[in-house]
Amino acid sequence: MTAAAAVRHWCTGLLRNAAILAARPLALAAAVAVLTLIPHGAANADGHAYRKVAPSADGIGKTYMGREIAGVMGWQAAAWLERPERMQEERPDLLQAELGLQPGMVVADIGAGSGYHARRMAEAVGKTGTVYAVDVQPEMVQMLAALARDERYGNLKPVLARVDNVQLPPASIDLALMVDVYHELEFPFEVMRSLVRALKPGGRVAFVEYRAEDPNVPIKPAHKMTEAQIRREAAPHALAWERTSNVLPWQHIVVFRKKG
Ligand SMILES: C[S@@+](CC[C@H](N)C(=O)[O-])C[C@H]1O[C@@H](n2cnc3c(N)ncnc32)[C@H](O)[C@@H]1O
Repeated sequence: MTAAAAVRHWCTGLLRNAAILAARPLALAAAVAVLTLIPHGAANADGHAYRKVAPSADGIGKTYMGREIAGVMGWQAAAWLERPERMQEERPDLLQAELGLQPGMVVADIGAGSGYHARRMAEAVGKTGTVYAVDVQPEMVQMLAALARDERYGNLKPVLARVDNVQLPPASIDLALMVDVYHELEFPFEVMRSLVRALKPGGRVAFVEYRAEDPNVPIKPAHKMTEAQIRREAAPHALAWERTSNVLPWQHIVVFRKKG
């Protein structure tokens, strides 16, 4: 069985067990109810405020630097991340070539989901390297743990993030990748602050987001970002823009390097 098929099988198993999780919606509804009572107007450490707005269809009703944050893609949709047509739509092979990964590197896939990119990163950094596969949903982390039991991905370390912290060791990472993730971070400032701490001096972070500048990219607006917005939101952190690549069909790759 291929790794992608194994992940699909795993997702199906999880869905079959959905009854066990039947109590979750109630807990989630209660959590959402509590969260909506918390004002989002408080400024973060850099003085940028989260603001509460009327939620759009795909947003969470909270803005950061003028952008409404999108809702998190639930683990129930993990099989969608493994869809075969993604190879043509997103060209993960071209993305990997752009990242310039080398054997022995320590890298992180932030918001790794089913491990679609983490698997490719694990092959690129080899047995002497490490891939931290980080996600905030425990069900996604279970899928990543299943991958790590496959000897081909023995260098993959699953990590359960907090909603505001990537939970990685300080100054440990050569490159962090975020594919279709940043726009749905509930606490983008805090997550980026924790991620920059985890980068080695000179380490890189690559944002991969659907291009909002291009109306022909068939993705809902809340799940797209302009390059200008990405650069605006990176500006409060100790990051220097390095380059932007548009080799992918629908996404841009915007790369920053940690200063100092
Ligand atoms: C659209 S999926 C993309 C998954 C993967 N990067 C890919 O391209 O296949 C977004 C993922 O980000 C995760 N995520 C959302 N907020 C997060 C956070 N604060 N920390 C870590 N992961 C997060 C979600 O749980 C979900 O698995």
